[in-house]
Amino acid sequence: MAKLKFQTPTGMHDILPEDQAYLRSIMKVAESVSAFYGFQRIDTPILENAELYEKGTGVSTDIVEKQMYTLKTRGGDLLALRPEFTPNIVRSFLQHGMYNLPQPVKLYTSGPLFRYERPQEGRYRQLHQFDVEVFGDQSAAIDAQLIQMFVAILKDLKLSHIIVEVNSIGDSQCRPYYKKALISYLKNKQYAVCTDCRRRIKTNPLRVLDCKEEKCQQIRSQAPQMIDYLCQECKDHFKSLLEFLDEADLPYHLDPYLVRGLDYYTKTVFEVFAERSPGNPDEKGFLALGGGGRYDGLMKLYGGRETPAAGFGMGIDRVLSAVKRQSLPSEPSSPKIFLAQLGDQAKKKSMKLFEEFRKANISVAESLGRDSLRAQLARADKLGVSHTLILGQREVLDNSIVIRTMGSGAQKTVKLNEAVEEVKKLIRGK
Ligand code: HAM
Repeated sequence: MAKLKFQTPTGMHDILPEDQAYLRSIMKVAESVSAFYGFQRIDTPILENAELYEKGTGVSTDIVEKQMYTLKTRGGDLLALRPEFTPNIVRSFLQHGMYNLPQPVKLYTSGPLFRYERPQEGRYRQLHQFDVEVFGDQSAAIDAQLIQMFVAILKDLKLSHIIVEVNSIGDSQCRPYYKKALISYLKNKQYAVCTDCRRRIKTNPLRVLDCKEEKCQQIRSQAPQMIDYLCQECKDHFKSLLEFLDEADLPYHLDPYLVRGLDYYTKTVFEVFAERSPGNPDEKGFLALGGGGRYDGLMKLYGGRETPAAGFGMGIDRVLSAVKRQSLPSEPSSPKIFLAQLGDQAKKKSMKLFEEFRKANISVAESLGRDSLRAQLARADKLGVSHTLILGQREVLDNSIVIRTMGSGAQKTVKLNEAVEEVKKLIRGK
């Protein structure tokens, strides 16, 4: 086939009907786990002031440095397509005075995000996240609860081989000391790291620990560790987090070099990985399904009162491909019965019948465009329905309908106005 003139932009993809069932299962599970833990939905605009991310996510992060889609409005404002949710939700919390509500305030959202990334498997320019944020609680119990929720969602989706990595990156009290130690370690290695990291040593040295380049990872393996520089408060918080995780029987790994690619984190950071498909080796053979942590300083940075906060973002596209590889979705709306019709009168009568089935919450498939009974039964067979209703010319005349059991081929005729009740009995009796 000749190359089509119009295709999705680089790094963006359609979510086709065959993937929608997976997507629905993921959202259903994520929303029910969140509701259980007391989270409420919030939606924020897809466009926000670019400065929100420059200030929050951080000017020297990859996201702000290279990945933002920005545009100037006719009125001269510089807006950005949201690259993440956290700054939007913090902005909304402040704008709507949610600090006056009983704390903690627990919010979740989901939707598309945009990052001008180098596209590859699992990395898109329009990605989708399920994101949760908690405001107004500094306890490590919240951090542990977030990890527990993340794992619960994946478990409910029947995903296995999950790994949780945690670390503490300290706060404004102790991190400067660590930064100093790291810079002095990296200083005489600037020619052994990649060109990006050579620059990062000056602008944002912690980012070197996050670099995926082989040579930078080697340098990292000997670097000083944040855990040795934590102040007493951060040390206690981290210890408390690990105790909560142990108590909840949540297996985790300590990764002393986990820093995450965003600037606002304080204390806890974590990332959740799943094994990649075999034959697709990448970082550690694992793919990050999501990550998060605590960010107690962001609210103040945006001009609000100091408010502790923590959250995570789950990559829906990646969870979807992991679910697809490991299990089948339970499709709640797959049709249970099929309605076949013969002739115009039958077609007309079937319209009303459809409404009756819809009201009874029984999904019915049809093939109104086909006229031959054989073609319609073949379609019913393919859909795997248990029963087919047949409305032929004779049935139209005497107000009846045939119910055919697909497996055995057995048929019986019932009154048209009793069709819904009969079907209910048959489905229930299965
Ligand atoms: P993040 O680590 O940038 O964190 O993104 C979280 C997850 O989104 C990643 O682990 C990955 O699964 C998915 N993701 C990120 N970029 C892409 C991409 N280009 N293509 C496909 N999936 C991607 C955040 O966004 C923070 N806002 C999380 C957070 C919430 N921290 C505190 N609260």
